[in-house]
Amino acid sequence: MKICVIGTGYVGLTTGTVLSDLGHDVYCVDNDKTKIEKLNEGKVPIYEPGLSALIDRNKKRGRLHFLSDIHYGIKECPIIYITVGTPTNEDGSQNLTAINDVIDSIGQSIHSHKTIITKSTVIPGTNEWIHQTLMEKGIDSNMFDIVSNPEFLREGNALADMLNPDKIVVGVKRQKPIETIKKLYAKIHAPYIITSLTGAEMIKYASNAFLATKISFMNEMARICDAYDVEISHIASALGRDKRIGPYFLHAGLGYGGSCFPKDVRALEYAAKQKDIIPEIVMAVQNVNDSQINLYLEKLTNKLTNLNGKKISVWGLAFKPETDDTRESRSLLLIKKLLEKGAEIHAFDPIVQLSDPAITVYEDMYEAVKESDALIIATEWSQFKSVDWKKVKDFMKGNILVDGRNIIDRNHVAGYQFHYIGVAR
Ligand code: UGA
Repeated sequence: MKICVIGTGYVGLTTGTVLSDLGHDVYCVDNDKTKIEKLNEGKVPIYEPGLSALIDRNKKRGRLHFLSDIHYGIKECPIIYITVGTPTNEDGSQNLTAINDVIDSIGQSIHSHKTIITKSTVIPGTNEWIHQTLMEKGIDSNMFDIVSNPEFLREGNALADMLNPDKIVVGVKRQKPIETIKKLYAKIHAPYIITSLTGAEMIKYASNAFLATKISFMNEMARICDAYDVEISHIASALGRDKRIGPYFLHAGLGYGGSCFPKDVRALEYAAKQKDIIPEIVMAVQNVNDSQINLYLEKLTNKLTNLNGKKISVWGLAFKPETDDTRESRSLLLIKKLLEKGAEIHAFDPIVQLSDPAITVYEDMYEAVKESDALIIATEWSQFKSVDWKKVKDFMKGNILVDGRNIIDRNHVAGYQFHYIGVAR
C-alpha cells in the first residue's frame, strides 16, 4: 500500500520504517529540509537500536523515501499518517500548530479518498476536531476517513514494540477504514480494540497515566519503606508476582521523565479540568514525581552539607537507557538543581553528547569521577551495573555514591568503603 507519513520525529521514523519493512511503499515527509537531506544521506537523527540498519535496508529496496514536499506525498498516497509533534503549552493545553499545518496541506492537496491516521498523541476530542475542520474546508466527508491509532512504543525498544504490540487500538467514526487498517497491519499479530475516535485518544492517555501512577506509587512506597527500614525491591518483587498487578513499572528511583509521561499526564489533567473534573490521582502522581529529585538532593546534602564548589559526577544523561533522548530527563533536572547550589558537574553518558558549557562531559565513565566528592547514577544503563568499583573509589576524592535508579548492590560497594545513598535500600 502507498503510505505518506507526515513528520519524521521519533514516532514517524519508526512507523514509516517498520511499515516499509512490512512491504508497503512509504513516503516520509518533513518540513525540516536539513533533516530530510541527512536522512537521504543515510544519517539518522535519533539513536534507536536497529533503526538505522532498517532504514538503510528499506531505502535500498526502494520502498522507503524521504522528501520535504508534503503536497506530493498527500497527492500520491491514499493512506496518510500524522506523526507530527504535539508539545504542551504552559497551561497544560496542547500546541496543535503542527497538526493544523498538516490539515491545511491535506485540505489543499486532497483529490481522491484518503485514510488519515493520527498517531501523534492528541488530547481527547482532537480527531473529531480534525474531521470537523476538513469538512469546514469544504471537503466532502466521503473523501476521507479519520482514524485514531495511538502508538505504544517505548524509546529504545520501538521497533520490537511496533512489530509485536499487545494490542492495536483503532478509533473510527465509521466501519469502512477498519478493513484498510487491517490490511496495513496484516503481518502484525495482535488483538484489535475498536472504539470511537475519542475513545482511542483516551486509551493512550489512560495507558501512560496508569504506568506513571505505578511509578509514583512505588516512589511513594519507597519513602514509606525508607522510614521503616524496608527494602523496596522486595516489595516490588512480591507485588509483581500478583498477576493483577504485574511486574513492570514498579521500579522506584528518581522518577519518570521523557517526552511522553510528563507531557501526557499533564495534558490529561488539563483535559479533565476542561470538563470541570478534578483528577486527584493524576495530580498526586505528578506531585510525587516532581518532588522525587529533592528527596535525593536532601539525602546528598545531609552528607555533603554545602554543595558549593563540590565536584559531583553524574553517570547517565538520557531520560532512560538505550536512547539519546534527554527531554525531561531526570538527570538534567537534577544537574540543574546541583548547579544552582554551586556544584561543579562532571558527567558521562554512553550516547548523549551535551554541549552545555556549565557541564563537563567525558567520553570515559571513569575519567568523569576523578577527584569527585560524590557520584550520582541517574540512568540505569547496563554498563553502570558492572563497574570496577575499586577503580572508581581510587579515582574519587570522596566516597558518596547516590544510586538514583536502585541498580547497585549496596553490600558490594560497602566493601570498597562507599557511603551508599538510595531510597528504601
Ligand atoms: C512511554 C510508554 O512506556 C510507551 O508505552 C508509550 O508509547 C510512550 O511513552 C509514548 O507515549 O510515546 P517511553 O517514554 O519511551 O515510553 O519510556 P518508558 O520506558 O515508559 O519510561 C518512562 C520513564 O519512566 C523513564 O524516565 C523511566 O526511567 C521511568 N520509569 C520506568 C521508572 O522510573 N520506573 C519504572 O519502573 C519504569
